[in-house]
Amino acid sequence: MPRATTFGTRAADYDRLRPGPHPDALDRVLPATARTVVDLAAGTGLVTRAILARADAPVVVAVEPDRRMLARVTGATAACAVAEHLPLADASVDAVVASSAWHWFDEQAATAEIARVLRPGGTLGLLWSRPDPTVPWVAEVRGVGRTAADGARPPTRRGLEFALPGGFGFVDDTPEPVCVSWSRRMTRDEVAGMVCTYSGVLELDAAAQDAVFRAARERLDELVGGGDPVDVPFETIGRRWTASP
Ligand SMILES: C[S@@+](CC[C@H](N)C(=O)[O-])C[C@H]1O[C@@H](n2cnc3c(N)ncnc32)[C@H](O)[C@@H]1O
Repeated sequence: MPRATTFGTRAADYDRLRPGPHPDALDRVLPATARTVVDLAAGTGLVTRAILARADAPVVVAVEPDRRMLARVTGATAACAVAEHLPLADASVDAVVASSAWHWFDEQAATAEIARVLRPGGTLGLLWSRPDPTVPWVAEVRGVGRTAADGARPPTRRGLEFALPGGFGFVDDTPEPVCVSWSRRMTRDEVAGMVCTYSGVLELDAAAQDAVFRAARERLDELVGGGDPVDVPFETIGRRWTASP
């Protein structure tokens, strides 16, 4: 199974345990004036829900290739498709948002498609949310999954150093990326379960995934005293570009 399509094997866990981006970061990359918005790689609709919760919510088209994920999206027009072939007319949308997903796309093809469907002056907002890797216990517990999946690959500061492919007429609105630190209260089982929602772990067989869950839970108990819940630090990084008028 390709790594990009592993999330649907645990779509319910993904939806329950992975948070969407912080609303402040979403507000910085998605103008309130946008009336038609594409949630690209919508997954189970975490971002779609956040957009629809806005006052005067726009029309949302949720584009997602995995039907097991897409089935959980509500309140939006659902389109089963990939970023590289958008089932949308030229210059038909005001904004595109993609959260924790850009690394799965063919950059050139996806950027060309986004440039095609955006109206002149439309915006592309990219977001990356994750447990904050600069907090040692968070990095250690998340590292249990990383090590089981890929060896001891260190986390990158994804998004901060990101550059959109050139030549498609986008102007960078965020030379200083948006960076929002926040926290979420989770039970210890939820934290260990979240570690098991990343693609590298989802590729493992069921017994190995169970072992990751138990090891993450144990490491959390070693590093963080007390009972449930635990305050888990997260970060959301955001970038925004405007399509040339
Ligand atoms: C980590 S999930 C992010 C889901 C959602 N945006 C969120 O923030 O929770 C990555 C999603 O990208 C989707 N995906 C993978 N390859 C894709 C592609 N080429 N085009 C569009 N979506 C893709 C996967 O199916 C998965 O739902």
